[in-house]
Parts: sequence; structure tokens; C-alpha cells
Amino acid sequence: MLNIIIFGPPGAGKGTQSEFIKEKYNLTYISTGQILRNEMAAETEIGLKVKEIISQGGLASDEIVAEIIEKFIASHADANGFLFDGYPRTVKQAEILDELFRKYNLSLSGVLSLEVPEDILVERMLERGKTSGRADDNIDSIRHRFVEYDQKTKPVLDFYQNKNALYPIHGVGTIEEIFNNICEVIERL
Ligand code: AP5
Ligand code: MG
Repeated sequence: MLNIIIFGPPGAGKGTQSEFIKEKYNLTYISTGQILRNEMAAETEIGLKVKEIISQGGLASDEIVAEIIEKFIASHADANGFLFDGYPRTVKQAEILDELFRKYNLSLSGVLSLEVPEDILVERMLERGKTSGRADDNIDSIRHRFVEYDQKTKPVLDFYQNKNALYPIHGVGTIEEIFNNICEVIERL
């Protein structure tokens, strides 16, 4: 059973590559970013709580995200394996995920970390911002997303490096080239 985390800074290609990974390896996909955007669009209690912070490029609270993740894992007990996109994003979230893995008898196969230089990330997100309707695809929010990433999310890399679970992936090139890099790593897991 494969349980994979796809990791990387904003705009790294996590969502894009996930589409191919989940198909090829028959994984149950969860993107906390997408779930939070759905909650915002539906104006649920969670959605209203996180709307402002996400639009500005900040992170939602670990408590809200933990609730979303546990609900999802618990309701997909029949999954063949999970693919986590955009989660965990803080060391606290990584610790919570460890506990959830123990509780639900799952084990982590690896963390695929997409590496892309910042100028390319900005370019990708500004381009997408022209049509995405995402409130955080503007230059001010993008800048803030990078600050959050550097301060709160990057330490997660050390957390998994210490567990020998980290697999860096060269994230520049065509979508297909990058997917091939990813498959090479997954085949070794
Ligand atoms: P989230 O939705 O996870 O967004 P993100 O991490 O900022 O990343 P993106 O979705 O923008 O990029 P991506 O890496 O998926 O790349 P994509 O494939 O889209 O989170 C959004 C917000 O929700 C967070 O800021 C936070 O507020 C909140 N949140 C989410 N999870 C949370 C958590 N766990 N805890 C707390 N808060 C949380 O690609 C980007 C663009 O590039 C696309 O247009 C794509 O078409 C293009 N592209 C992709 N690959 C290539 C390529 N090879 N060449 C050229 N273009 C490419
Ligand atoms: Mg995404």
C-alpha cells in the first residue's frame, strides 16, 4: 500500500502532478487547499473562518486542518492508499499525521518534494491568476505565501529527512518530464 505526500512551495505543481499520480497508482487523493476552497465557496462555518486568512496567503489553523484530515481518512477506510497534497504544512501537522497513521494503521511510503525556483513559481501563479479565480493568486498574497512557506512549512522537510522519508524531485521542465521523475522515485518505494 502506498501512502504518499506530495510536497512543495506554492505553485510547485503539486496539484498538476497529483492528477497523474492518483490515476497511475490508484490512490485516494486529498488536497487540503481544495477542500478549504470548497468550504469557502459553500460559505460553511469553516469556510467563513478561513476566508480572510487564505485570501491574504496565510495558513489555516492546525486544528481546522486536523479535523478535515481525520474526517477524510476515517471516511475512506477502504482506500488503496492516500496521496496528500498541501498537507502537512507545519511540523505540528506532521506530528498529527504521524498519530493518525498509527491510529488508522497506515504507514508513510515517502514524501516527494518538488523543487522549483521562486521566479518560476511566481510566473506560474500570476499566469494562473488570470483565469483561476483564486483569491490568493495575486502578487501580494503570493509573497505572503512564500513567507509562510519559509517560516512554517520548510521545517517539515527536516522532519521527514530525519525519518529518511524525503525524496527531492526536480520540478522544472514539462509536466510529463516531471511526472517521469516522480514515477522513478515511486517505483523504488
Ligand atoms: P494549496 O491549495 O495547497 O496551494 P499552494 O500550496 O499555495 O499551491 P498551489 O495549489 O498554488 O500550487 P501547486 O503546487 O498545487 O501547483 P499547481 O499544480 O497548481 O493551499 C492554498 C491555501 O490553503 C494555503 O495558502 C493555505 O492558506 C491553505 N491551506 C492549504 N492546506 C493547508 C494546510 N495543510 N494547513 C494550513 N493551511 C492550508 O501548478 C501551479 C500552476 O503552474 C498551474 O497553473 C499549473 O498549470 C502550472 N504548472 C504546473 N506544472 C507546470 C510545469 N511543469 N510547467 C509549467 N507550468 C506548470
Ligand atoms: Mg495545488
